[in-house]
Amino acid sequence: MSGVQDKVQQHYDEMAEVYDSRYDHRRGRAYYSHISRHVMSHLPRRGRLLDVGCGTGLFVYRYTSQGGSAVGLDISRGMITRARARNRSADFGTGNAEMLPFRDESFDAVASLLAFSYLKNPEQMLKEAWRVLAPGGTLAICTLGRNFLTSGLPAVYSLGEAMRIRQVGVGAFGERYYTPGEMIALLEAAGFCDVSARKCSFAHLNLVDPLYSIARRIEPFVEEKIPSLAYNLIASGKKPGR
Ligand SMILES: C[S@@+](CC[C@H](N)C(=O)[O-])C[C@H]1O[C@@H](n2cnc3c(N)ncnc32)[C@H](O)[C@@H]1O
Repeated sequence: MSGVQDKVQQHYDEMAEVYDSRYDHRRGRAYYSHISRHVMSHLPRRGRLLDVGCGTGLFVYRYTSQGGSAVGLDISRGMITRARARNRSADFGTGNAEMLPFRDESFDAVASLLAFSYLKNPEQMLKEAWRVLAPGGTLAICTLGRNFLTSGLPAVYSLGEAMRIRQVGVGAFGERYYTPGEMIALLEAAGFCDVSARKCSFAHLNLVDPLYSIARRIEPFVEEKIPSLAYNLIASGKKPGR
């Protein structure tokens, strides 16, 4: 593993106990439901899913609640311990997104939420996702998109680390954010077909009220009409069938 991957792993091991508190309140639940719905809309309902960078298993829980089966993989043992406690019926393992410890063509779907930005070699993760997907299988990724609001975040996170602020995601991890066009190019280069990428999310958890309430109300409008203002993006594609 690279030095930065070690650092990401250590960060999430340390944050595992508090990670879920981000989503344990009304705003957090609304945010996570929102991105989950976007990802879910690309996935088969009752397939066998691999969640890459599954963290504490929040998405695995949602997917299996709707009738599918799932396996979660994460680089952080601490996050996986929490995921196992949440999801008794799913399988979890520790491992690197860029070297998936699974057989070829063993999943109907691969999802990854809020983890892609950490990858040093995103092409390799996509190659691995392709390998483990059955023909006709689907990939859906939710990651922070790059726009004028998010471009400065890595610098802010590095500053946070220098100031010893201990918060989920705060650190110099060399995160990379992508535009929809860049995600489409990455997925197509990996061989996926029916590729799409669109921006989502406008109501950020940390906005003060009444800004948050307004942002939430206009979120569907922003996503539809002014997507450049949305800060996440959902990219999806299919592995061609035989
Ligand atoms: C912001 S959390 C998101 C967790 C979860 N997907 C969710 O939606 O709550 C990012 C996760 O990505 C994991 N991660 C980062 N780099 C990874 C890699 N190379 N392989 C596997 N997991 C990785 C981290 O350990 C962490 O659990």
